[in-house]
Amino acid sequence: MKFFIDTANLAQIKEAQALGVVDGVTTNPSLMAKEGITGKDNILKHYVAICNIVDGDVSAEVIATDFEGMVREGEALADLHPQIVVKLPMIADGIKACKYFTDKGIRVNMTLVFSAGQALLAAKAGATYVSPFIGRLDDISTDGLNLISEIRLIYDNYEYETEILAASVRHTMHIIDCAKLGADVMTGPLSAIMGLLKHPLTDIGLAQFLSDYKKGN
Ligand code: G3P
Repeated sequence: MKFFIDTANLAQIKEAQALGVVDGVTTNPSLMAKEGITGKDNILKHYVAICNIVDGDVSAEVIATDFEGMVREGEALADLHPQIVVKLPMIADGIKACKYFTDKGIRVNMTLVFSAGQALLAAKAGATYVSPFIGRLDDISTDGLNLISEIRLIYDNYEYETEILAASVRHTMHIIDCAKLGADVMTGPLSAIMGLLKHPLTDIGLAQFLSDYKKGN
């Protein structure tokens, strides 16, 4: 499973990259705003800065909600850097734009996906990634992980190549469950990735090894 980090915070992206287990970055307008990155030029520069830190794919989201606007913005984003994947919202014009970009060889991540039907449309439009938001489904008492299973089944039935990018991942168990269910990618905060490291028996065992070493040296 690929690990993407879901943030626009450069320090966190550097920390994740240094750990050596991060395969890409996802961002969205809310994550950009959270870092105080505003204005079109600053946002574009920020995407380039992110691409210069990580080796893998960097999802950059359009703001337009009409086909022409999405094409204009998406082409500008794709021109920024070869690592950019254009992120489009799961609406009719987003699907049209997905097909347009895919036909041109520009990779797309379809975002704000909350149902298996939406994921099926994304695959038919040739999306590179589909992003089901599991945490937001859990927030409204709907099983987000069940959506990952449904999409996995459908994509496997027809051998769709679109990668399932589990998004809105909030904690370590989301990551582990997504891995069990066969999500291709998960994107989450650095805290969830670092949380995978934690085990008290590791800490206790290490302390014991070091203390035993000191006794003999
Ligand atoms: O990857 C999608 C993500 O940014 C949304 O996460 O936690 O705001 O639902 P969240």
